[in-house]
Amino acid sequence: MTDRLTKNASQPKLIRVLKGEAETIPPVWLMRQAGRYLPEYRELRARANDFLHLCYTPEWAAEITLQPIRRFEFDAAILFADILIIPDALGQNVRFEEGHGPRLDGMMPGDLLAMLDREKTGEKFSLICETVSRVREALTAEKTLIGFCGAPWTVATYMIAGHGTPDQAPARTAAYRDRENFDRLLDLLAEVSTDYLVAQIEAGAQAVQIFDSWAGVLPDEEFDRWVIAPTAKMIKLLRMRCPDVPVIGFPRGADGLSQRFIEQTGVDAIGCNTAMPLAQMRSLGKSVTVQGNLDPLLLEAGGLLLESRIHDIRGALSGVPHIFNLGHGILKTTPIEHVEQLVKQVRSN
Ligand code: CP3
Repeated sequence: MTDRLTKNASQPKLIRVLKGEAETIPPVWLMRQAGRYLPEYRELRARANDFLHLCYTPEWAAEITLQPIRRFEFDAAILFADILIIPDALGQNVRFEEGHGPRLDGMMPGDLLAMLDREKTGEKFSLICETVSRVREALTAEKTLIGFCGAPWTVATYMIAGHGTPDQAPARTAAYRDRENFDRLLDLLAEVSTDYLVAQIEAGAQAVQIFDSWAGVLPDEEFDRWVIAPTAKMIKLLRMRCPDVPVIGFPRGADGLSQRFIEQTGVDAIGCNTAMPLAQMRSLGKSVTVQGNLDPLLLEAGGLLLESRIHDIRGALSGVPHIFNLGHGILKTTPIEHVEQLVKQVRSN
């Protein structure tokens, strides 16, 4: 751990912890912190009508990114966008239907490869990057701006099925049947996603998170091939271009394979889902920074149980580099007062 320590008091707290320092009071932010549980988000969302239009309008997307920072003073802002910007920018039709989640024109890997166009991405990426620069300009120096993208495996599951599925069966089946084209698709997504992250970093993102929400459904051999290999490739390419920018991996649900993921991808931090035992998080914290893992349903429920769990998470991870967060995204039914209580308690001694 000591060799990862680049102690620098002038850096924001979240970056210090990502570089391996343990803080008595951990930095805190929440996945999906910009979103529907906030009335100010719902108001802008109703005016924009279309979700992707919100993401591609830098003035609005910057405002939404900043909304939770104004309210709760989290240590980090996360760019307001979506993991499905990548397929949209590559030319696949992506829509967000009220109450149904995302809808894409799902296709087999070979057909996707024939249709996707890397040359098209520039225009849409530059709109997202304009949001990044606007937010960085508006934030004070002690706040960190996190950029993000989806991991190739998770993004591919949506591109093939055309929508979210409980077990990612359409993508798994397509990948088993046509491994060669599936590997090529993940390779393309890894390269384009790295370009996208580099562009976000050049525009002002100081750390990046790679969301692999569906990493937990694969057998170990396929986990190596479809989760670890593309993530390792992205991080290698990223380090060549942006050596100092920390990367948070979030292979959700892959608890038993986390240590292998850490060793083979080279991530600086690992996002831990709610089901990961705190003792395991503590042990992972010997090699990387750990982030998580409060149950979003407990934050929604509130009360004494919430208070005691926040206390237990902090206690179990004291002395290791830890970023306080949820184990998955905040729910739209979460009361604002519970988020206020969380931030207050995480910051108390
Ligand atoms: O964290 C943040 O506040 C930044 C913005 C962000 C969004 N989506 C905004 C969003 C981030 C980081 C994401 C990541 C994302 N998107 C993931 C990975 C994390 C996870 O939750 O597993 C995934 C799988 C997606 C794909 C996606 N986008 C789905 C399945 C949905 C519909 C389900 C849902 O929660 O509504 C979205 C829509 C979406 N992305 C919304 C927001 C605020 C809601 C859109 C609305 O206002 O109607």
